[in-house]
Amino acid sequence: MLEALPLSRKQVESVATSEASVNIWDGAIRSGKTIASLLRWLIYVADAPHGGELVMIGRTREAIGRNVMGPLQDPALFGEFAGMVSYTTGAPTGTILGRKVHVIGASDAKAEKVIRGMTVAGAYCDELTVLPEDFFTQLLGRMSIEGAKLFGTTNPDSPSHWLKVKFLDKLHKLPHWRYWRFTMDDNPALSEDYKARKRIEFTGLWFRRFILGDWVAAEGAVYPMWDPDKHVIGWDTLPPMQRLIAAGIDYGTTNATSVLLLGLSDETDGRGKDRSRLVLVDEWRHDPRSGAPRLTDGQLSGKVRSWLSMAHLPSQVLQPEYVVADPSAASFRLQLHQDGLATSPANNDVSHGIGMTATLLAEGQLVVADRCRGFISEVSGYSWDDKATEKGKDEPVKVADHSMDASRYALATTEALWRTALPNPLELAA
Ligand SMILES: Nc1ncnc2c1ncn2[C@@H]1O[C@H](COP(=O)(O)OP(=O)(O)OP(=O)(O)O)[C@@H](O)[C@H]1O
Ligand SMILES: [Mg+2]
Repeated sequence: MLEALPLSRKQVESVATSEASVNIWDGAIRSGKTIASLLRWLIYVADAPHGGELVMIGRTREAIGRNVMGPLQDPALFGEFAGMVSYTTGAPTGTILGRKVHVIGASDAKAEKVIRGMTVAGAYCDELTVLPEDFFTQLLGRMSIEGAKLFGTTNPDSPSHWLKVKFLDKLHKLPHWRYWRFTMDDNPALSEDYKARKRIEFTGLWFRRFILGDWVAAEGAVYPMWDPDKHVIGWDTLPPMQRLIAAGIDYGTTNATSVLLLGLSDETDGRGKDRSRLVLVDEWRHDPRSGAPRLTDGQLSGKVRSWLSMAHLPSQVLQPEYVVADPSAASFRLQLHQDGLATSPANNDVSHGIGMTATLLAEGQLVVADRCRGFISEVSGYSWDDKATEKGKDEPVKVADHSMDASRYALATTEALWRTALPNPLELAA
C-alpha cells in the first residue's frame, strides 16, 4: 500500500495480523506504535463495515489533532493518502478516505454521551490509559456490528491501571484481543545513537516505563533526571525569548502561592537549525509557612499582578500571553478577574503533566533560570506517594509541591502553543 514507508518487521506483523476485535499496540515511547496502528486504521477505514460510525478517541480533540491527524496528514509518512485525511483541530468530526469520523476527547465531560447512543463500526484510541474505564467499557459495548474493530495505542502506566489489570493481564482469556509490545528497536526511523542517548537521558521510573516499556509502579523521585548542572541556567545569561507563553499559578492560603513564568526561547545551533527550548524564566513565591504573613485574596492579587507587570528577562520586555491558575482556586481566580486579570483554569491531569515534564527534562527541552528558587528547591525532593502507589494510583506526596504544580499548570495547559515550536526530538539527537 505504501512504498514510501519502510516498516520494521514488528510493524509489518502488527499491521498484517490486527484482525481481532480489539488490537493493542503497547510499549516504549517513539517505538513506532502510532505509525503502524495508523496505517492499519487507514486500511480498516477504506473498507470498514457500514451501518455504524467510526470514532477516534484521545485525551482531548487537540491531542487527537496533534498525535494522530498530524501524522496521518504527513505525506512523508502516508504518501498520497495524507491528502485524503481532513481535520480541523478541535472539530467534532473529520474525514478519512471519504468517510466521516467522530473525534472525541475523553476528558470532555460530554464524551460518554456522544457514544452512548451510537453503533460503532470502528474505533481508534490514542493513549488508551487516559480513557476512563467506564468510557472504554461503554465503547466496547457500542461495537455491536459484525466485524467491528478497535485499534489502540498506549504507553505503560501503573501495573494497577484498569487496562493492565482487567485486560492486558488476562489476554489468555481474551481470544478476541491481539496485543503487541513495541520497543524503540521496532521503529526503523531511530538510529542506534538516538536509542543509546534515550537510554541515558531517561532514568528511574521513566526509563523503565518509557524506554523499556514496562508497567511498573511509581516509586522514589518523580523527576530522577533532574540535574542542576544540566537544567539550571543563570538568569542573566538567559537566551532571548520568542514569547512568554504563560504564567502558571498555584494558590495557597496557609500554604505557599507560587507563580512560574514559562518562555519559549529563540535559539539556533551552529548550523542555523532551530533549537528552541522551554524555559522557566522567573518565579514569585509567597509562603506563610516560612514566616511571611497570611494575605487576603485581594492582597495576594495585588502582589501577583504587580509582579507580573515587572521585567522578567534580562534584556527584553515581554508579558505572559496567558495566566493559568489552579482550577480549584475559584475565589482567587474571581479576585484576579475583578482586578482586571483574566485567568484560564489549568489542565490538572497530574500524571499526564508529570510525564510531559519528565520527558522535557530528560530530553533537555525544559530548563530553569536560577531565579526560580522554589522550583529548584522542590524538584529534587518531589517524590511519589507510597500510600497512593499501594492503592494503584500515581500520586506525588503533597508537600513542597507548589512550584511543581505551578510549572506543571503552565506547561500542560499550553501544550498546543509550544509543541510544534520545539525541534523534532528525532532530529535533535541526530
Ligand atoms: N516505519 C516508519 N518509517 C519512518 N518513520 C517512522 C516509522 N515508524 C515510526 N516513524 C517515525 O518515528 C516517530 C515515532 O513513531 P510513533 O509516533 O509511531 O511512535 P509511538 O510508539 O507511537 O510513540 P509514543 O509512545 O511516543 O506515542 C514518528 O513520528 C515517525 O516520524
Ligand atoms: Mg504514539
